Amino acid sequence: MSKTFYITTPIYYPNGEPHLGHAYTTLCADVLARYHRLAGDSTWFLTGTDEHGIKMVKTASEANITPLELADRNVAVFEKLWKELGVTHDDFIRTSSSRHKLAVQEIVRRLQDKGDIYLGSYEGWYDEGQEEFVTETEAKARDYKSAISGRPLVRYKEPTYFFNLKKYVDPVYQAIESDRIRVRPEARKNEILSKLKGWDQDLSISRGSLKWGIQMPSDPEHVLYVWIDALSNYVTALGYASADMLKFEKFWPADVQLIGKEILWFHAFYWPAMLMSLGVELPRLLFAHGWWTSDGKKMSKSMGNFIDLTRLDDVCKKYSDDALRFYMLKAAPFGSDLDWNDNDFLKNFNELANVVGNCLNRTIKMIGKYRQGVIPGAAEPAEIDAPLRELTHRLGASLAGAYDRIALQECASLPVELARAANVFIDQTAPFSLAKDPAKAARLDTVLNFSAQAIYASLVGLLPILPTKAAEGLRQLGADITGKTIPELLAAGLRAGQKVGDGAPLFPKLDERK
Ligand code: ME8
Ligand code: MG
Repeated sequence: MSKTFYITTPIYYPNGEPHLGHAYTTLCADVLARYHRLAGDSTWFLTGTDEHGIKMVKTASEANITPLELADRNVAVFEKLWKELGVTHDDFIRTSSSRHKLAVQEIVRRLQDKGDIYLGSYEGWYDEGQEEFVTETEAKARDYKSAISGRPLVRYKEPTYFFNLKKYVDPVYQAIESDRIRVRPEARKNEILSKLKGWDQDLSISRGSLKWGIQMPSDPEHVLYVWIDALSNYVTALGYASADMLKFEKFWPADVQLIGKEILWFHAFYWPAMLMSLGVELPRLLFAHGWWTSDGKKMSKSMGNFIDLTRLDDVCKKYSDDALRFYMLKAAPFGSDLDWNDNDFLKNFNELANVVGNCLNRTIKMIGKYRQGVIPGAAEPAEIDAPLRELTHRLGASLAGAYDRIALQECASLPVELARAANVFIDQTAPFSLAKDPAKAARLDTVLNFSAQAIYASLVGLLPILPTKAAEGLRQLGADITGKTIPELLAAGLRAGQKVGDGAPLFPKLDERK
């Protein structure tokens, strides 16, 4: 039986259009989902939108429309973008959908039955942009402004239902410390553990003064507010707490939950606490990635450095969607903050063109010129061939390790480094001079074969990251990849006797295209 792999992104607020940050998490998740599908795992990839909360209400009222109209409008933009970027999610959950709302009400009933919910009253500070309650100490330290948006905190004072979070401080601490739920990067795990140590508050989960939201099942005067609603999406989308639990039974617990670092606390604490209360298994891995800035500054519309849909679209048109995916992975080690920089983008694009594209092109050209386009078989290897053959054979295992650690930058570099080594190999073994000496025909066969095997393996390894370009490159090599897994493709190698296709530049720029 094949393994299952379930991966999620945060569900995004559709109070505006998606931007670079949303595209980033979603494309990283897409790379992981594609890798696991290609590794033969039965894979489920979920994304969606988080449509309740005060931010939606306020933005909608400014635009003179209802929150649902606002959501509908922006959800269409999110869905269109994912389609254009070739995102392969299996499901898109909206928290305003009835499948989600009904299941959340059932979840709340179960939390209530467990004795984990009580009516109390809340007075304190709230960050409306972040949908987060802020303690007096934190509020004061930040001059009563949001740590994220800088906007003033709002004072809330009203009756509210509470979730008994305090009860779960110790169990969640244990689960994280022991890696029963892996919180990564490691440094963030430690931050969470130290914040948990001093925690002594329950979680306010409802508001009576709001209508836009999911009603508390026991008290229609209150709507849920809002993390219980939002976090539940990861299981309601699988049918948890509904009549059809098949997907839940198949795919839960999640293998990887990707999030930005600003929402790690909710995912590392509230979410496991809820699951423990429900008696549901914890996700295996929570990975909190860093934040994008642009040219060293926080992205903002007024600064003109905001990477919005138009900018993303321009980049994709000029350099290809695959180049965008590659750049995102290469821009920083996964987990660190990232900075959008056009020169850096170009540098990474050129690496694809000059290392991968060039290696493919010269290999195909040489096979065309010296061997009538037929991949020759290898004879006895020479000593100088050993490093490249090693790298070629090791790629599958190296990639598996990097994907397992979610070391996405490495996942992108490893195959490119193999192509770079192949270029060096070609320079060192000099097929063009071997070709001049008929006595060296067998040696030329070997050199061409090993070069072709290396660029083939590199392209196979790049399939999750450059789904279009890598497939196109493999087609040029004459390889048939349909229905095959990465391990199968790597084990089979490129068949001698097979004919290569016509080489064409894999990474032309817009102004170089005919
Ligand atoms: O927080 N850099 O939604 P949201 C990197 N609805 N990633 C970024 C980013 C940036 N500058 N900006 C956004 C919410 N992201 C809640 C989540 S989950 C149950 C509820 C990405 O629309 C990153 O993944 O504010 C971040 O966590 C997410 O978008 C926040 O999206
Ligand atoms: Mg946010």
